[in-house]
Amino acid sequence: MDAINAQLKEYIEKSIFPKYNKYYSHGMIHINSVINNMLMLANYYNLDQNMAYVIASYHDIGLNVNRENHEYESGKILESEIELKKYFTPEQIEVMKQAVEDHRGSRKIRPRNIYVECVSDSDRDFDIKIHIKRQISTSIKNYPQKKSFDEHFKNCYEYACERINDNGKFNLWTNNPILVERRDNFQKDFLNKEYAKLLYKEEWDRISADGTKEKIINFYEDY
Ligand SMILES: [Fe+2]
Ligand SMILES: [Fe+2]
Repeated sequence: MDAINAQLKEYIEKSIFPKYNKYYSHGMIHINSVINNMLMLANYYNLDQNMAYVIASYHDIGLNVNRENHEYESGKILESEIELKKYFTPEQIEVMKQAVEDHRGSRKIRPRNIYVECVSDSDRDFDIKIHIKRQISTSIKNYPQKKSFDEHFKNCYEYACERINDNGKFNLWTNNPILVERRDNFQKDFLNKEYAKLLYKEEWDRISADGTKEKIINFYEDY
């Protein structure tokens, strides 16, 4: 992590991170997790640490502009950042832009470059509790007409299953061994549907009781 340029890091911490404060599922807990994964992968594949850091930091920033198409908007924001031009060549900026544009995990077409593969894999929650926490909040936000736990559970479970590839695995592009191990552990728990349902229900009960559900509906701005 020491390899990251201190000035660049300071700029991003001050100017970009505060923009994530109004999000729940896409807040700083998520962004920091993607940064950690990205730096681990950049180290493993000998990629540029500064580029990896920028990609992870900007990948969901387009939510501020357009909820539906945030990947594309993130790319536009990254590309137009004057500050980044101090540290990167136009070619590097183009690669980073492609990476944020293509980060969506449900995509089926092989990404355009190794950075895209890395950010797409880094974006995954292979910790089942974090996965459930983020997914339920997104479902509540996206489908306000659905009121019951069973409706949201069905929606979340089916949506997650769409990310299982033809080999019966939650897709990973890099097949990095550390992520593969996390994926396999996650998958074992997730595909035990009864067990997964209990965990979803636990989270649903928790956020219903402590006011988080209200806050997700009325305060946070995730899609
Ligand atoms: Fe995203
Ligand atoms: Fe993300």
